[in-house]
Amino acid sequence: MKTSCRGIRDLTSAYDKMVKLFMPESVAIVGASRKPGKIGYVILQNLLESGYKGRIYPVNPHADEILGVKCYPSLKELPEAPDVVIVAVPADKTISVAEEAGEKGAKFLVVITSGFSEVGNVELEKKLVETARKYGMRILGPNIFGIAYAPANLNATFGPPELLPGKIGFITQSGALGIALMGWTVTMGIGLSTIVSIGNMSDLDAIEISEFLAEDPNTAVITIYLEGLKEGRGKEFLEKMSMITKKKPVVIIKAGRSRRGQRAVASHTGSLAGADVVYDAAFRRAGVIRVDTIEELFDVARALAYSPPPLNDKLLIITNGGGAGVMATDATEKYGVELLEVPEDLKERFRKHMPWFGSPHNPVDITGQATDVEYSGSLMEALQDDRVGGVIILVCQTAVLDFKKLAEAILKVVKDAKEKGFSKPVLVSMIGGKEAMDAMMMLEKNHIPTFSIPERAVYAYSQLVKYYFKIRKGR
Ligand code: ACO
Repeated sequence: MKTSCRGIRDLTSAYDKMVKLFMPESVAIVGASRKPGKIGYVILQNLLESGYKGRIYPVNPHADEILGVKCYPSLKELPEAPDVVIVAVPADKTISVAEEAGEKGAKFLVVITSGFSEVGNVELEKKLVETARKYGMRILGPNIFGIAYAPANLNATFGPPELLPGKIGFITQSGALGIALMGWTVTMGIGLSTIVSIGNMSDLDAIEISEFLAEDPNTAVITIYLEGLKEGRGKEFLEKMSMITKKKPVVIIKAGRSRRGQRAVASHTGSLAGADVVYDAAFRRAGVIRVDTIEELFDVARALAYSPPPLNDKLLIITNGGGAGVMATDATEKYGVELLEVPEDLKERFRKHMPWFGSPHNPVDITGQATDVEYSGSLMEALQDDRVGGVIILVCQTAVLDFKKLAEAILKVVKDAKEKGFSKPVLVSMIGGKEAMDAMMMLEKNHIPTFSIPERAVYAYSQLVKYYFKIRKGR
């Protein structure tokens, strides 16, 4: 499917329409609680602690102030129309809150509350949507944990307070999983631009949020945990995602592959899990990368977010361990990655960075006695040679290798090469103990994607090649 001018205009207008949800000038929290630990309290606390610079209005008829912030008895009393109203009151109170928000002139309702279509309360959800529509408001939710957007220091969730800023946008239909992943990504050093809980998708869904992220300069890759689309959204999904994936990669983990999984989906968010083959075909046509596990989701996302495009489809592997090299080679066959047949002149150059018993073939084996010096030398050769499309560095722990020094050396070589005009993906897999973990964290923080085992690096690389040489080119 070709991207038309109209398509690009559509994306831009979707961005403009949604920018105040991600970068609101003011946020009201209806149901801000006085009691630590309650959802309405935690959301206010997170908003305050995240360093959000906009105006915050807690709303609770029983309090004058909460966490040192002046509290209002109702939305009517606010000094202005808030861009976003977070709704954290029980389900039976949400319609009157929506009415008040509409009358006040709010733009977005972020409805945390559960107890709607996911438990069969379809009518109440319909009423909520109708009320919002009457006033031209858009709804995120209900049945969500909120929204966080790192560039605006906005954490309007009841998840963990911190978010590691980065370039991966994450949309999740599962609340609990999303909250869990907020903490997990911080621990793993994975930076997010945003995390958006979409829950029942009564109004805004994964398609519209993706349209915003496609235009968002702070997001390089869109990742989605999806259980299913709402009825009648299939055609739009295909059309919009076909446009978005030409601009930015979209990586989806679609749960409910099995028949039992599909039943679980229906009772979780009330969406249509549908026949898996239908989703599979739609993803392929739309250029969406489908993965099976959370690990794969973020492996692929990190590789795509932080790597320049490969120069060509030929990969070069540098290793200090034959076994790791063999495993990676097997993985290239499994995932359809082409290995470069190293030309003689390049072999000669690699030989300068290894002992006589090393191997300049691909994988280039600089042997178990390699230090950061041999890695630096061979990596620079690979980066400077246009026949190498991208590089995977494999490192097995040895007593002669200082992991910290090696991580520093890799960063320096990549930086030096870039300054000389040589830029291509470099993915790293370090196998070892704590030193390996620390070194990988250092690389990760400096935007070199790292992987605990070679196969994961090769899989992520295969998706880089797929994105740049197939999806983006419309093949
Ligand atoms: N306007 C403003 N404040 C009000 C109003 C009103 N009309 N009515 C009540 N309040 C106040 C209450 O007095 C209370 O404040 P207090 O604690 O200081 O007394 C506060 O608002 C909250 O109201 P409660 O009646 O105490 O409601 P509670 O906090 O128990 O529950 C909630 C509200 C959290 C929205 C609940 O109904 C709910 O839906 N929980 C589930 C949320 C959820 O899990 N969402 C999905 C997330 S994803 C996942 O699965 C993790």
